[in-house]
Amino acid sequence: MLHLENIYKSFDNFIAVNGANLTVKKGELVAVIGPNGAGKTTIFNLITGQLKPDNGRVVFKDEDINKLSAYQICRRGIARSFQIANIFPRLTVFKNVQVSVLSQEGKSKTLFYPAKKIAVEKTNSILESVGLTDKAEYPAASLAHGDQRVLEIAIALGNKPELLILDEPTAGMSPDETSATMKLIKDLSESQGLTILFCEHDMEVVFNVAQSIMVMHQGETIIQGSPEEVRNSKDVQECYLGVG
Ligand SMILES: Nc1ncnc2c1ncn2[C@@H]1O[C@H](COP(=O)(O)OP(=O)(O)OP(=O)(O)O)[C@@H](O)[C@H]1O
Ligand SMILES: [Mg+2]
Repeated sequence: MLHLENIYKSFDNFIAVNGANLTVKKGELVAVIGPNGAGKTTIFNLITGQLKPDNGRVVFKDEDINKLSAYQICRRGIARSFQIANIFPRLTVFKNVQVSVLSQEGKSKTLFYPAKKIAVEKTNSILESVGLTDKAEYPAASLAHGDQRVLEIAIALGNKPELLILDEPTAGMSPDETSATMKLIKDLSESQGLTILFCEHDMEVVFNVAQSIMVMHQGETIIQGSPEEVRNSKDVQECYLGVG
């Protein structure tokens, strides 16, 4: 579904992504791991069009998407969440998701109409799928950190993605919130057949849920393979885990 082929990206003279490769197959749950500054977020920005690669190709569903805008890429079916929660804090949980459903349907202008009845079913079904139904009428700002991050996933789902990209979905969460969120992500992948790409620092989380893991180090792809292959890779042990 998604291929990154030999991608490069520099900022001034600093090479943030230095020949990265990634394959995400339809229906897969894929993790990108690597130390701070490895280039994970930059890779995600290159996929979603927030940044453009200096070199290399990003191919989504057999189409070269390098030249498309972030908006066009979103329309093609890629939605994402950010490393830092990105919600409308004063709107209710329901409204946060409704806005995203409406914009996907090209109806964002109707927000100025009495919006109570628009896209209610779709919005409610998304809230239910992430377990936020009880909190639908709370202002987003009043949610606990873990629920705000889950709300962000719900907002991304409003875009009806085929590929969902999550940048450190469990960052800052308690252990309980982390396991609930990973269960949710696994469930979205398994029961809704959604293709999901995420990055994460918690290795236990990654090795428990990911079907395929891509390891980055200083902007390069060290390996992409099954959890087993990654665990046994000498290159990974040397560069990433710091084992000589
Ligand atoms: N807009 C930018 N301008 C300059 N340097 C940048 C920019 N964005 C990222 N970088 C640098 O590129 C490198 C890769 O950053 P990136 O955010 O992709 O890392 P990361 O793997 O997501 O790290 P973390 O795990 O800390 O989130 C870092 O050294 C970062 O400082
Ligand atoms: Mg990052």
